[in-house]
Amino acid sequence: MRTTVGIIGAGPAGLFLSHLLHQNGIESVVLERRDRAYCERRQRAGVVEHGVAEALRDTGLGERMDREGFRHDGIELRFDGRGHRIDFPDLTGRHVMIWAQTEIVKDLIARRLADGGRIVFEAEATGIEGIESDRPRIRFASGGAEDVLECDYVVACDGFHGIGRTSLPEEVVRTYDKVYPFAWLGILADVPPSCDELIYARHERGFALHSMRSETVSRLYLQVPADTDPADWSDDRIWSELAARFELRESDWKLGTGPITDKSLTPMRSFVTEPMRHGRLFLAGDAAHIVPPTGAKGLNLAMRDVMLLAEGLRSWYGTGDGAGLDAYSDTALRRVWRAEHFSYWMTSLLHIDPAATPFDKRLQQSYLEHIAACRPAAAQLAENYTGLPAV
Ligand code: APR
Ligand code: PHB
Repeated sequence: MRTTVGIIGAGPAGLFLSHLLHQNGIESVVLERRDRAYCERRQRAGVVEHGVAEALRDTGLGERMDREGFRHDGIELRFDGRGHRIDFPDLTGRHVMIWAQTEIVKDLIARRLADGGRIVFEAEATGIEGIESDRPRIRFASGGAEDVLECDYVVACDGFHGIGRTSLPEEVVRTYDKVYPFAWLGILADVPPSCDELIYARHERGFALHSMRSETVSRLYLQVPADTDPADWSDDRIWSELAARFELRESDWKLGTGPITDKSLTPMRSFVTEPMRHGRLFLAGDAAHIVPPTGAKGLNLAMRDVMLLAEGLRSWYGTGDGAGLDAYSDTALRRVWRAEHFSYWMTSLLHIDPAATPFDKRLQQSYLEHIAACRPAAAQLAENYTGLPAV
């Protein structure tokens, strides 16, 4: 098999890249080890930055997002029994869309297939060869047989556990890692959202997040110890813990409850690989970097990587200008590190570290009060959350 750009992974990064390349007349093939139904079912975060939502609209993928998603003009920070609204349009002129990654993936797969795109499901990439030559190849296993995809460039969009990152020569790679001593227990519940807003709550018992998937489905998270087994958390225990962490002092606001349809654990990790390119192999999305979900940056970083890469490939194939491709790794990493910092900062601000001293907790409290009282501090949060336009 031969194509121009060989893409490993049909997550948001691989699929959006394939879509953007198609719109610029560049052929690609996506190899995906799972089946289509699996890719369309995976539960992930659901906040789309202003600029990424615009990119979806500009490339014909915004219709269902604008019809079924929610435009959010702020978030609530809740601490000390009080809520403080961060108003995005007022502070930045921008907003975000609440639109689940699962839905973006469904739309991307449908659109690629309608446009005649090639996504080979149940095809596991097993090796990437010749990345220092001008004829790289991806070896893959499909339907019990071995096959080869030859291409001009390989883009590994194969997530944190893929083969892309480990295919870079060890001596050129540097990785940076931070593992947090807690995780998120996430639930989906058949109950209307308890308010229109995302609520990020810092409580002495731990962090909690109120989010949503539709008018009738809520998505909620609780900070739990990293080694938690979700089976140890009964529905009643989850609801009473959430209610305690979201409690308000001078308000009769109540968290609605309903049947829990899904429980899962999200580990918290920060991770970056440098560089994001070697020879004819590029890394994009979770293959190159991981953020803890507190800043809702994972999906957005993945989409930004491939927007940048598609632009570089467009220039290269359109006019022979390779400057964009050459700058890809450095340019992408500038945004990645800003998002790493923001995600780390939001996480540290809102979670209770089991090793935190009373001094650490007072600092946390003091900074939350500062954000609530000081416009530039709130603006900095809003700028980062809605997505830095240029980095
Ligand atoms: N061969 C083929 N496909 C593979 C291989 C392989 N060897 N290894 C992994 N894959 C596939 C996975 O099955 C998955 O469908 O690569 C895809 C990677 O997709 P994602 O994990 O969704 O990664 P990405 O597209 O970078 O999206 C990042 O996902 O984890 C979230 O928070 C993160 O929202 C962010 C987004
Ligand atoms: C979600 O809706 O799943 C979600 C929202 C905001 C986050 C993380 C996850 O920061």
